[in-house]
Amino acid sequence: MEQSTLQWLGHNAWLFEHKGFRILVDPFLTGNPKAAVAADAVKADFILVSHGHEDHLGDTLKLAKRTGAAVITVAEIAAWLSKQGIKKVIGMNVGGGVNTLFGRVEMTPAFHSSTLPDGSSGGVPCGFLIKVASGGTIYFACDTGVFGDMKLLAEKQIKIAVLPIGDVYTMGPEESLKAIQLLQPKVVIPCHYDTWKLIAQDTKEWEIRVRKETQAVPCVLTPGEKIQCFESEE
Ligand code: NI
Ligand code: MN
Repeated sequence: MEQSTLQWLGHNAWLFEHKGFRILVDPFLTGNPKAAVAADAVKADFILVSHGHEDHLGDTLKLAKRTGAAVITVAEIAAWLSKQGIKKVIGMNVGGGVNTLFGRVEMTPAFHSSTLPDGSSGGVPCGFLIKVASGGTIYFACDTGVFGDMKLLAEKQIKIAVLPIGDVYTMGPEESLKAIQLLQPKVVIPCHYDTWKLIAQDTKEWEIRVRKETQAVPCVLTPGEKIQCFESEE
């Protein structure tokens, strides 16, 4: 079977590697106190951007220019990046999907806001579902509160759900439990916490509650840590 790995780069920055492709999600590295790597050291083939806030758009512009990676994002952010000289942009919108060399990327709703660094509108914020050929599905909720239509996303048979638990700007630990109940993933990984004091959380307590109140297996990572995905498949 195809080996895939998922590495937490801190906050909501992720590196998913599949079939030899490197897919970055929300590459906020410069200025990220929990960044596991320097932006200059990262290689990428694709960059997924969930919304325009600087703790998500992060180093996208610089990285796309240096690596030539294709950026997959909301139409408004795609247009904004094109204007800054980024050639390979794939603009999409909520409910849509694109088939890429590494698998299918679907754009999911997110309840949040999205302003770009220069104050222009980033359109709607989003999350992502990545589906690979072997049937593995990862859901990145990105910045959002819990919402009832997560119940529909459960039909996508999510293997790994990556959820924010930091509170204040996104759902907190309590709401994340509701999200897990709706999404029914096999494994749930928390993120978007502890980056700053304002979003500090107790993951030990969260883990205990996930085990008690949901069917999912919690997987708490430290920035830089990498896990094998879909290793029990096929
Ligand atoms: Ni945000
Ligand atoms: Mn954020």
